[in-house]
Amino acid sequence: MSENKIKILAFSGSTREESLHKKLVKIAAKGAQGAGADVTLIDLRDYPMPFYDGDLEGKSGLPENALKLKQLFKEHHGFLIASPEYNSGYSAVLKNAIDWTSRTSSDGEAPLSAFSGKTVSIMAASPGALGGLRGLYQLRDLLMNMNVTVLPTMRAVGQAMEAFNEDGGLKDSDLQAAIKGLGEQTVNSIHIN
Ligand SMILES: Cc1cc2nc3c(=O)[nH]c(=O)nc-3n(C[C@H](O)[C@H](O)[C@H](O)COP(=O)(O)O)c2cc1C
Repeated sequence: MSENKIKILAFSGSTREESLHKKLVKIAAKGAQGAGADVTLIDLRDYPMPFYDGDLEGKSGLPENALKLKQLFKEHHGFLIASPEYNSGYSAVLKNAIDWTSRTSSDGEAPLSAFSGKTVSIMAASPGALGGLRGLYQLRDLLMNMNVTVLPTMRAVGQAMEAFNEDGGLKDSDLQAAIKGLGEQTVNSIHIN
């Protein structure tokens, strides 16, 4: 990974193998790559962690996978996050990962060091008509309260069971361009030395 390139971390709030959100975030990741960033695509399934528990944290600190994920967050300038909507909210897997990685893990560490100052684009896809938009509004609020810049252009893909091609792209070329655009805009909104 090049030192002077913008680094983007892309991930889905669903760990499901055939996840629509894994497909969606891959499209945005291509857009970010096209705009010149180094993109790291991860699967939260590779970072299993217990539910946040203050007693567990008090006893043994952050779980190993939370520390690994937190380190990854810190090493990237921005994130692309695709989260499913479950009962009108974003996923518990995503919330749990955010909660653990929001905790300080060493003396003198600045609060929210894995989030503060990052630039993020969010997106969703759902078999329903709203495409998971309600969960995105919640996610946007939460991230903004963590000192993250959430780009205004978020996208929710409705009727998503029929929206993707075999190759993982979106059938609707305008929508495909819009999701790629989220990746491009994220990169273009980040300025490093
Ligand atoms: C527990 C549960 C609750 C759901 N609630 C909603 C919902 O409120 N709105 C919606 O649009 N879809 C809802 N869905 C459908 C999900 O959007 C759909 O399963 C989606 O494909 C999940 O994302 P994935 O394909 O990336 O795993 C729900 C699914 C589950 C399992």
